[in-house]
Amino acid sequence: MRLSVIGCGYLGAVHAAAMASIGHDVVGIDVDQAKVDRLVRGEAPFFEPGLNEILADGVASGRLTFSSDMAAARGAAVHFVGVGTPQQQGGHGADLTYVDAAFTSLVSHLRPGDIVAGKSTVPVGTAARLAEVVAPTGATLVWNPEFLREGWAVQDTVAPDRLVAGVPAGAEGERAAQILREVYHTAVASDTPFIVTDYATAELVKVAANAFLATKISFINAMAEIAEVTGADVTQLADAIGYDARIGRRFLGAGIGFGGGCLPKDIRAFSARAEELGRGESIAFLREVDAINLRRRDRAIELTVEALGGSAFEKRVAVLGAAFKPHSDDIRDSPALDVAVRLRGLGADVVVTDPEALENARRAHPQLQYTEDLDEALRSADVVVVVTEWPEYRHELDPAHAGELVNARAVVDGRNCLDVRTWRDAGWTYYGMGRPRG
Ligand code: UDX
Repeated sequence: MRLSVIGCGYLGAVHAAAMASIGHDVVGIDVDQAKVDRLVRGEAPFFEPGLNEILADGVASGRLTFSSDMAAARGAAVHFVGVGTPQQQGGHGADLTYVDAAFTSLVSHLRPGDIVAGKSTVPVGTAARLAEVVAPTGATLVWNPEFLREGWAVQDTVAPDRLVAGVPAGAEGERAAQILREVYHTAVASDTPFIVTDYATAELVKVAANAFLATKISFINAMAEIAEVTGADVTQLADAIGYDARIGRRFLGAGIGFGGGCLPKDIRAFSARAEELGRGESIAFLREVDAINLRRRDRAIELTVEALGGSAFEKRVAVLGAAFKPHSDDIRDSPALDVAVRLRGLGADVVVTDPEALENARRAHPQLQYTEDLDEALRSADVVVVVTEWPEYRHELDPAHAGELVNARAVVDGRNCLDVRTWRDAGWTYYGMGRPRG
């Protein structure tokens, strides 16, 4: 099938390459010429495991092209729109500027019978409004939310847990859903649940999923706060409740909390939309979820200062991690970098290292010191703060070796990802998040 993908960020670039990898002819369109130039060469504009391979294959096969000209969308049977919906400047709602601009520019290239599939995360009600923009062209709008996780984006796109299609009522909607089934033929053939809904449900599925995940993380972080005043260990607590299949252990990782380009802004936009709909009280708890999440960063800073004997001033702090999570170079709303920046604000001499995110971090926070060399980051540190649970820190870093480099053997484990016993045995004082001191 011929497909266009409008917006070549995390979502769109992966979607375009993944669709080409399952046999479609795809054109990816983005207004950023520099990004398009890189993609044309088969290079991913960001770090995402497996993306470079499918990009290069797609470009080499001729099935995957990129353009900065919206006219390139002409002739595609399905047009996916996957542009960003960031948080509004100075507000909590979603900024729909890019979505509106994409639709305005796309409509003049649509033909009767085309399908426009919205993938961006939007406030409920947006699809119904955009359907009216599309209607005069004779094309049909569907809302097809995306659930990919950075770091697993290729796999999540090719083999998702489920597919959701919000369609208009009647025969037009049935036809559109059938076309989407053909697009996702490999997932459909392996019995991936395919849920057909109305627009509002499809939009809500996405924000509800992210709200639930954020709530799960903040729930366990709230338990960490209680553990801190009772001497309990939140990781054992999470293991124990996680064995209950109704609860499950995933997303019960207590630590410095969630960040990234999705969860924080999506729960805020959801709250803002609920307020507009007169139902703010229904999800008022999401404000608490946000507040708990932000408090955990304060806690990591508090522990670091404590490990430094009460003041961070002129102390050398090794910060391990800058990305908002491992296997990503994304630093948007990264709790790791926030902790680093705030420690510097307290007068510490902060050195940040990360396997992939240093270039982005340097651009956003040039005031911090960076090194790609882990040993260099650790050298003469008065405290080591682990804020992104990369395998390089979790499994590969030998506490005895690290101990020889640092000035003081104190480690703040902002992700509860280190093996406490090994670190203690190597003479370190261990400060976890919601775990007893050791
Ligand atoms: C998320 C959703 O998982 C995905 O379905 C949606 O499409 C986009 O938003 P992503 O932002 O890539 O994906 O990251 P995710 O793996 O969900 O992690 C989000 C944040 O939560 C990270 O900062 C991570 O460190 C944190 N986290 C995750 C925890 O603090 N504890 C956990 O147990 C799990």
